[in-house]
Amino acid sequence: MISKETIQLIQNSIKIEEIVGSFVNLKRRGSNLLGLCPFHNEKSPSFTVSPAKEIYKCFGCGKSGNSIGFLMDLEKYSYVEALKWLANKYNIGVEETETTPELKLYQQSSDSLFIINNFGQKFFSEALFETEEGQDIALSYLKERGFREDIIKKFQLGYNPETGDSFAKAAVVSQFNPELLQKSGLVVLRDEKLRDNYRGRIIFPIHNQSGKISGFGARLIKKNDKAPKYINTPENEIYVKSKILYGSYFARMAIDKADECLLVEGYTDVVSLHQAGVENVVASGGTSLTPDQLRLIKKYTNNLTIIYDGDGAGIKAAVRGMDLALEEGLDVKLVLIPDNEDPDSYVNKIGPSAFKAFIDLNKKDFVIFQLGLSLKEAGTDSVKKSAIVNRIAETISKITKAEHFTKRQDYIQQVSEMLKIEEAGLNDLVNKFIREKIQKEDNREQTNIILKKEDELSQVQKSEGDKLDSLFNKDEFQERAIVRSLLEFGLKKWNEEITVAEYIFEQMDENDLVVMIENTVLIKIINNYRDLFSRGENPTKNDFLYFEDEIVSRLVISLMDTQTEISSRWKEHLEGEILTRNDLFKEEVTSTLSYFKLRKIKKLIDENQKELEKSIDEADQFLFLKTHVELKMEEQLITKRLGTVIFK
Ligand code: UTP
Ligand code: MN
Repeated sequence: MISKETIQLIQNSIKIEEIVGSFVNLKRRGSNLLGLCPFHNEKSPSFTVSPAKEIYKCFGCGKSGNSIGFLMDLEKYSYVEALKWLANKYNIGVEETETTPELKLYQQSSDSLFIINNFGQKFFSEALFETEEGQDIALSYLKERGFREDIIKKFQLGYNPETGDSFAKAAVVSQFNPELLQKSGLVVLRDEKLRDNYRGRIIFPIHNQSGKISGFGARLIKKNDKAPKYINTPENEIYVKSKILYGSYFARMAIDKADECLLVEGYTDVVSLHQAGVENVVASGGTSLTPDQLRLIKKYTNNLTIIYDGDGAGIKAAVRGMDLALEEGLDVKLVLIPDNEDPDSYVNKIGPSAFKAFIDLNKKDFVIFQLGLSLKEAGTDSVKKSAIVNRIAETISKITKAEHFTKRQDYIQQVSEMLKIEEAGLNDLVNKFIREKIQKEDNREQTNIILKKEDELSQVQKSEGDKLDSLFNKDEFQERAIVRSLLEFGLKKWNEEITVAEYIFEQMDENDLVVMIENTVLIKIINNYRDLFSRGENPTKNDFLYFEDEIVSRLVISLMDTQTEISSRWKEHLEGEILTRNDLFKEEVTSTLSYFKLRKIKKLIDENQKELEKSIDEADQFLFLKTHVELKMEEQLITKRLGTVIFK
């Protein structure tokens, strides 16, 4: 954990205009600053930064928040990552507390690996641009392939000379630890000597989400049947292959803006498309998509477009992750590149604008495409055909979220037409798979309960990570909002007589807490607050931020992570002025308490949704859908009513 002192130092140094200004070109306009919004496409600036209030707000798309929120939103940083970014910007040494010795060692070795990789990148870039060998062999090769110098520099490409150990020597002179050097994959030990691992190869640094180099891909220049075309960094603390999406650091803003992520296979595809002005592109590294990679994509967008070579082999590789993508609610499209070209060679052949037009024109729904492909393969073979029916039904059965229900029905209709089978029959088959899945899950739940009991019995502490995950994954927005209001506004005056804390406690007695709040840590915070308060102390969030129980302090940190949302209603109050949550705390407390009452409806919706997912009878499904709609309407009604109460 980052120490209290460090956080305070960071907080004291923050100037929002400097932080936002690192990403957005800002011009002063009165007491505020104005620029083009980084969160949506706009021609005239409506993105406002208020240094006095330490917040930003876009009057075009409505995004708003403070400095840390800005970094978390734009760069997709966690709270801690955002703090570290700020510490780095303001040259504040980060002091971490309460780390276990193992964690400390792990962090030290991660830090060192990043430093080694950074050193490596500089060395290889210099070798590419500044040495004769680099220029003659590598730079000329890259240029021959059509890569411009600015793009080579942007992606920090480099070259590892053919001399057996020029990098290893430089690294040893710089006193890097030999073991860590080997761990980084940049050098290998051969005949008890450190030698370069990527001799005579073009180097593609692989950047993580925050732009640090976590590994490399190294490509042979000359064709060589004995050696692999690419060597990649071995798995280590900072290079975990299943989590890597090449290019994601350079693509993140473009993906956000386009609300679409293009997925290609290779490093060179990413670099070439960037050069062509297509920047919302990442590469999977030639393997099937992993759950971690899908999750990373889903952080930015729900629309994934896979661009693969038309030979089929690549598609098969991509397919494996597809059921998972559907389950996660991703909309997956596919474009095949013709004529044995890959995206890199194709964009070079037909040019940027033709390439973009080609992609837009040839996007096909992935599930439908996959079916067409298998049907062609099967021909008239009826055994193969029935296998296809089963497979596609299973794929469709992965779509279980209520909001995607119509999509599922659309698929069933389209697919039954393509397969020339009865729609009802396919529907039954899909339902069979759903039923099986639920049974499996029920079994798993049973097993989980048993395991949990065993856990409790043997008093084995689950790993802290698991505990925290289960803590934060629950949908407990309202509960958290109450605690946040309490911590932030508790000491303010509610009216002449009572404080906000007293008002909240008046509205919610201890019984309510236990019934309505599932998370015992939140209850603990509230009760602790009440205790402190009744003892005449003035509790603030700092009392909990540095609470001796780390679970509590972590929860409070994550509460502060919560985005500062300014509702559209508030806009009417704004009249050009930016009001902060501090100005509007009464509204926030009232609405927080009121929304708490909406929880019951949400619970009902959830329960209904589960029933809907389980139901296989069409009449039942219709009823559940109807209930879903009714509950949703009721939810809206209450929301609206709350609106008039709060904002009359
Ligand atoms: P490709 O062979 O299509 O390479 O492999 P490429 O990136 O298009 O390279 P060029 O255009 O021939 O120079 C696609 C991806 O598969 C991984 C790499 O990530 C590569 O970018 N790969 C391929 C390996 O990791 N190792 C290999 O030996 C080959
Ligand atoms: Mn290629």
